[in-house]
Amino acid sequence: MEKFVSQAARRTRLSGIREISEKAMRMRDVIRLELGEPDFKTPDNIIDAATEAMKKGYTHYTSVMGIPELREAIAEKLERENGIEADPEREILVTCGGYHAIFVSLAAVLNPGDEVIVTDPCWSAYVSTISFLGAKPVYCPLDEDKEFEPSLDLIENRITEKTKLIIINSPQNPTGAVWSKSILEAITELAMKKNILVLSDEVYEKLIFDGYKHFSPASIIPDAKDYVISIFSFSKTYAMTGWRIGYVVANEKLIEYMKRVSFITIACPNAFVQYAAIEALGGSQDAVNRMIKEYQKRRDIIYSEISKISGVKCCKPHGTFYIFPNFSEIMRDSVKLTYYLLENARVAVVPGVSFGPEVGEGHIRISFATSTENLREAAKRIREAVENLQTSDA
Ligand SMILES: Cc1ncc(COP(=O)(O)O)c(C=O)c1O
Repeated sequence: MEKFVSQAARRTRLSGIREISEKAMRMRDVIRLELGEPDFKTPDNIIDAATEAMKKGYTHYTSVMGIPELREAIAEKLERENGIEADPEREILVTCGGYHAIFVSLAAVLNPGDEVIVTDPCWSAYVSTISFLGAKPVYCPLDEDKEFEPSLDLIENRITEKTKLIIINSPQNPTGAVWSKSILEAITELAMKKNILVLSDEVYEKLIFDGYKHFSPASIIPDAKDYVISIFSFSKTYAMTGWRIGYVVANEKLIEYMKRVSFITIACPNAFVQYAAIEALGGSQDAVNRMIKEYQKRRDIIYSEISKISGVKCCKPHGTFYIFPNFSEIMRDSVKLTYYLLENARVAVVPGVSFGPEVGEGHIRISFATSTENLREAAKRIREAVENLQTSDA
């Protein structure tokens, strides 16, 4: 059968989470902290809007770009909250979530052999999609001592004549870092100077704590909009991961080509989900605010508990629902550590190496999208398992 499989499919990897998840599922009494999804229910007003839309008969194909009412609602939101002016007719494409938005964006701009600068660590789907398209990911390390904020010099050093794109992601998966306006601005300016594109993945834009602010690079410099492809999603903000809805904002020429890729992959986004998305943007945001408060409470607990473990270095995340502690002093091999924790602490996490070969290694990603009881118990189990390891080594 192998002989039938395409080169592109061979180059594609599922994320490192899947193997751990499958193993965790077969075990008893495991606290699952490997998954990247909200544990909250989708707010009722959004569910009601979808039900009503289905009953009204919105169960057929829509425009490839998404229904005009949703694109208008998105344009208003972008102007109000992101400071991005986008023409709903030509500059916004509704997609089946952030994954799909990233796929259509990369497929529309990358040729085989092109280089794409990604950070180490970064969300692994970027690397898989870049490789699927025959392009080459070029890792640029993030410095943990600088709260995982990118260095402009290191990015600049990696730019070659083959560089087509830089992918940035703030708030960031897996570190939870929220990058400053100044670095986002500087990266965008650099890209413009070098005539390369920026893909700004902003799917965690709302999951921010401690008074930190989200910045959209497409808004911060006049004309940046032509160089920045901005990715947004309803998944994380509204606990809508299973609904599969998001959008991409870019220059109209690029959107035109993304539209073609979207057409041949999905024909159009789900009809009634688009009506639910209008309600998500225009309806009450109380549930979102409650979820953010709860995530911050959970972040406080997991950060304080994990920081107490001797030998563990932990950077405080100011966004997302992930924390990325450094266990290098205890065990540098993050895959080995993950399996050790699964078997001995009965806690499932993701090995840091799934997010980056150098900086990612030595770390684990813990998702705190779970109850405070689970987080306290998981931290206690991890601490005990690490202590056992330290005593058995002594
Ligand atoms: C950084 C990042 N971008 C994009 C996505 C895609 O999410 P969705 O397709 O559910 O919008 C994810 C999902 O985990 C993510 O972590």
